[in-house]
Amino acid sequence: MLRRRSLLKLLRGRRSIQVFKRARMPDDVARLIVEAGVRAPSYLHLQEYSIVIVADENLRGEIAKLCEGRDELIMNAAAIFLICADLNRPARMLSLLGHPNVLRSNKHPVESVFAVFDAGLVTAFMIMAAEIIGYGSTILYHPMLYPSEFAKLFQLPPGVTPLILLCVGERGESPPLRPRLPLDLVFFRNSYREAGEEDLKRYIRELGDAMRREDYVRKYIGLNMDYLEYLKSATTFNDELKKTYDAIEKFLKENLMRF
Ligand SMILES: Cc1cc2nc3c(=O)[nH]c(=O)nc-3n(C[C@H](O)[C@H](O)[C@H](O)COP(=O)(O)O)c2cc1C
Repeated sequence: MLRRRSLLKLLRGRRSIQVFKRARMPDDVARLIVEAGVRAPSYLHLQEYSIVIVADENLRGEIAKLCEGRDELIMNAAAIFLICADLNRPARMLSLLGHPNVLRSNKHPVESVFAVFDAGLVTAFMIMAAEIIGYGSTILYHPMLYPSEFAKLFQLPPGVTPLILLCVGERGESPPLRPRLPLDLVFFRNSYREAGEEDLKRYIRELGDAMRREDYVRKYIGLNMDYLEYLKSATTFNDELKKTYDAIEKFLKENLMRF
């Protein structure tokens, strides 16, 4: 019971850490984290993910170049894991069974979505393992933004999609817990209840206030703007975003999504 309580405490107190003291993780500790990660459930035992640890300092430098403005975080993190959705290995495994397998077809929406789901679960388990050992962590989304560049850098074969970087390191900051939607907006009893507009507005205000108190945008993104303005700028659909998204869509259609 005592152990259960302390794990709950760890979960409830978790927040992303983006300032690390410069350190490097011993290989056996990184292995321990991945061993815990792969205990996550996975669709049909297929483990539709792959994890690549960055062990080469030159490679780390190349990654820093692709993650604009995050050099310090990348260079200081004790370990950087590239998390990929992987349909290559499962397709090869199923081929060995000698049946007309779905991953060799042009229609595998379930396997595509669950590859991302499997990768998310393994990431969550790794985050918690890192926390238990005493490390902090954050996720960077740049592999999803530049899949071709990351695929080339890590020599990923077709069917393997780079999703995120999980950066794990020795904590160099102690940020506050970030806001979450009120539980009754995400957790329902028996049937879905759509949030009222006032509830959503209140939460948006709370989010903006909390980010302002933390000076989040200036501190982590290096911009002098309000968080809600930043949120808007990051989600504005314009020609530039369309061009980036067209390239991502092409990559995903070739390597992950077959609908
Ligand atoms: C899919 C995904 C991508 C993310 N990408 C980034 C990122 O590129 N940069 C970053 O600073 N944080 C990133 N994060 C972390 C979130 O910003 C963070 O979880 C959120 O602000 C809530 O803060 P907390 O984790 O401290 O509670 C990402 C998280 C997820 C799940």
